[in-house]
Amino acid sequence: MTSDVLGTLTYGMYAIGVKCGEKVSACIVNTVQQVAYGPDVISVSVSHDNYSNECIRKSGLFTVSVLSEDTSGAVIGALGFSSGRDGDKLKNINYRVLAEGVPVVRENICCWFLCKVVGTAETRSHTVFLAEVVAGSDSVKGKPMTYEYYHRVIKGRAPKNAPTFRENKPKKELNSENWVCTICGYVYNDPLVPFEELSDDWICPICGAPKTAFRRASST
Ligand SMILES: Cc1cc2nc3c(=O)[nH]c(=O)nc-3n(C[C@H](O)[C@H](O)[C@H](O)COP(=O)(O)O)c2cc1C
Repeated sequence: MTSDVLGTLTYGMYAIGVKCGEKVSACIVNTVQQVAYGPDVISVSVSHDNYSNECIRKSGLFTVSVLSEDTSGAVIGALGFSSGRDGDKLKNINYRVLAEGVPVVRENICCWFLCKVVGTAETRSHTVFLAEVVAGSDSVKGKPMTYEYYHRVIKGRAPKNAPTFRENKPKKELNSENWVCTICGYVYNDPLVPFEELSDDWICPICGAPKTAFRRASST
């Protein structure tokens, strides 16, 4: 079977808010779906390697913020390519903490909901959390961002911990004018401004990596 088969599955884009004791954190996922109603139950697939997995296991709670097409790629970069184990991922992010102690990411989101874990299923790489929706927004704003929109319009990539991770495009589709971010795989190819002419403090628009983290496509 070709991996393109599973590439036809469709997803949304979400920020998951978590707590570990007093500490709050968040990560990006594309794998939220409603799996039952009365009560409403959703599932989300979270890598065993993610700090968020540990937090959800310990607290039994998490929030889901539905990202909109207006959510900036930089927010996805800040939450989707580094671990809460290594620092405060929310330091430049707009969020609020609910009475339950879990944060809700508020960066141009459509809506949010609070989830209480009611079950888990294990795979070799990911835990699938089943969770009841216990509270949430009273209204919905904007247009939800799809995973396809994130790839096509924002030109973002997903890292290895995403269950839908795919290797970068084969090199033959890139040329030596393209520069590739070694952190998130973003490809810089603005024909009007050559990469070399970008200022030294320019950063990757997706993950915030410095210019020095980029490699010319032909040499990656
Ligand atoms: C577009 C996108 C989709 C992602 N989807 C998932 C997902 O569904 N499940 C998952 O475990 N990680 C997913 N990730 C990866 C996590 O966001 C990433 O590993 C993050 O660094 C985990 O942070 P943490 O260690 O603080 O939990 C995704 C990342 C991106 C950018």
